[in-house]
Amino acid sequence: MKTTIAEVGKYVGQDVTIGAWIANKRSSGKIAFLQLRDGTGFIQGVVVKNEVDEKVFEAAKSITQESSLYVTGEVRVDERSPFGYELGVKEIKVISGSVDYPITPKEHGTEFLMDHRHLWLRSKKQHAVMKIRNEIIRATYEYFNNNGFVKVDPPILTGSAPEGTTELFHTKYFEEDAYLSQSGQLYMEAAAMALGKVFSFGPTFRAEKSKTRRHLIEFWMIEPEMAFYEHEDSLKVQEEYVAFIVKSVLDNCKLELGVLGRDTSKLENITAPFPRISYDDAIQFLKDQGFTDIEWGDDFGSPHETAIAESYDKPVFITNYPTALKPFYMQPHPTREDVVLCADLIAPEGYGEIIGGSERIHDYELLKQRIQEHDLPESAYKWYLETREFGSVPHSGFGLGLERTVAWISGVEHVRESIPFPRLLNRLYP
Ligand code: 4AD
Ligand code: MG
Repeated sequence: MKTTIAEVGKYVGQDVTIGAWIANKRSSGKIAFLQLRDGTGFIQGVVVKNEVDEKVFEAAKSITQESSLYVTGEVRVDERSPFGYELGVKEIKVISGSVDYPITPKEHGTEFLMDHRHLWLRSKKQHAVMKIRNEIIRATYEYFNNNGFVKVDPPILTGSAPEGTTELFHTKYFEEDAYLSQSGQLYMEAAAMALGKVFSFGPTFRAEKSKTRRHLIEFWMIEPEMAFYEHEDSLKVQEEYVAFIVKSVLDNCKLELGVLGRDTSKLENITAPFPRISYDDAIQFLKDQGFTDIEWGDDFGSPHETAIAESYDKPVFITNYPTALKPFYMQPHPTREDVVLCADLIAPEGYGEIIGGSERIHDYELLKQRIQEHDLPESAYKWYLETREFGSVPHSGFGLGLERTVAWISGVEHVRESIPFPRLLNRLYP
């Protein structure tokens, strides 16, 4: 019976054949332990010299790390293994050898690992992070599909820049100028007017010269947009959605969280509702904490965000930022000129902002004025303004950065490990 490691539990006591690679190996004169991986999981294969053909034991002894093989053996329950099973190997058929695999079980430096990202992905820890990333994506679709949202795909080549023009990747679009999308939001607003509640999931690009544990040049964003939703309605969706993905990972990725040594008690706390603090109060809080480098009107740096997040055991919304700090499209506060109806969601444990969102301006004249104030080319935003010309309604939306969310939930230090092939400042390889 040909199967995969993930499925062996169905065949306890039976012989199965698995296509696999050698992740690691130990052997003595009488027994060899093969750490096998096949992408679906990891399992130990035990080869006992006097229970198999001499050729099989020789193959087990000489096989090298990352060689590929078909291995046949009996599935046994193994209480000591976190996975629960092992394979009593009977036959080995080497498919392809592997000489001097660069990533050995010893420690390697980060740059070396990043240069070998195409191989590094095979390691147990990276495998676990990718599985958690996949679970977050799966749970995202489940959450939004269960709650009446329609998936809409905004374009990647665009002529507009929702988040300001300084961080755009420019390209020629035949005779015209185009940019790689930094956010699908403006298109999602148009889609919400057609479909009510929509969400997107796609790559976004920021030519940010930032070299921090939170910044990628290319990252994936989930962007829901909801017609007739005001700011507070949107915050409810955000906390419910984030709590849902955390719970999904806790329920469905126990093995992976174990491999990563994640402190899951911290994740079990993450239930809706999440605390909220206004920007005004956050500034006061930081001053009280002894931060002398921040005044009302300044944006928060990561030490500020971390200090605020540390006083909560859940993600925290910082609401109502100064108008001047935020993009042109945000709805003004109903009773204050100087702040907008927005919130950033700050993850615990120093992972920083995972969501940026707001209510959008739905008044045609005000939006037009903002586009002018921000010196945006009116021709590129004509279609966007038209969404306010014909039956404009209050609406809100947000963007969740997938890699920051994966890094937080997995507990990996840096976003470069939360995407298969990170694009970083100075890194386009591999
Ligand atoms: O706060 P941002 O810039 O918001 C927007 O783009 C809105 N248009 C979203 C919307 O309302 N539809 O980005 C949203 C999130 C951030 O909170 C962060 O998680 C992530 O995207 N993000 C990044 N992640 C990795 N690397 C970067 N350079 C990122 N920039 C933003
Ligand atoms: Mg933001």
